[in-house]
Amino acid sequence: MAEAKGIRIGRLTARDIKQALALLNQAFRGRPLYTLVGLGRREVFFTPRQLKMALRNPYMLFLVAKHGKKVVGFSNVWAIYGGVGLSGWLVVHPDYRHQGIGRALAMAEAKICKARGCHTLITVSRTGNTAGEGLLKATDWKKLIQLKRYWYKQDYWLWEHRL
Ligand SMILES: CC(C)(COP(=O)(O)OP(=O)(O)OC[C@H]1O[C@@H](n2cnc3c(N)ncnc32)[C@H](O)[C@@H]1OP(=O)(O)O)[C@@H](O)C(=O)NCCC(=O)NCCS
Repeated sequence: MAEAKGIRIGRLTARDIKQALALLNQAFRGRPLYTLVGLGRREVFFTPRQLKMALRNPYMLFLVAKHGKKVVGFSNVWAIYGGVGLSGWLVVHPDYRHQGIGRALAMAEAKICKARGCHTLITVSRTGNTAGEGLLKATDWKKLIQLKRYWYKQDYWLWEHRL
């Protein structure tokens, strides 16, 4: 686990799944960037049971940032395969933003993926997500192309990070 400003970055464990899901759902609910249908599906996908099973999947990675026992950040990589990692959600609790936690999660993710043999990470961000774009640029990601009408017919940017 890395240590930064009283915040510990480490692997998600079964004990913290409930908190991690609450954080994830709270961060995306009610945001105009994400359609209701998209959110509904995602919340169904990430049931506690499914996430618990996913923790055992060697091709996936789930990280949390913790302040004491409180989960204040979450990130995941959907698939680490063939030297490429498909980076997923990255969320920091609203009360804990602008303290470098998002950066610490992104850097930890990259370090672990590199250690697992990745030479490249890819991800997407919703167009108009300025905080997400800011974080990606600050952590050495490069914006590639816009994906029109992708998930739930929404537009995304495709990004890559060469490790
Ligand atoms: C994006 C998010 C994870 C950033 O987390 P954070 O802990 O506040 O980020 P950090 O403090 O580590 O910031 C690192 C860098 O990201 C950029 N950044 C962070 N928040 C930003 C914002 N609101 N607008 C523009 N750039 C931002 C800055 O370059 C910052 O570096 P700086 O502090 O030296 O200026 C957080 O805002 C969040 O959870 N948003 C909702 C979920 C989301 O949109 N996730 C991203 C999906 S791609």
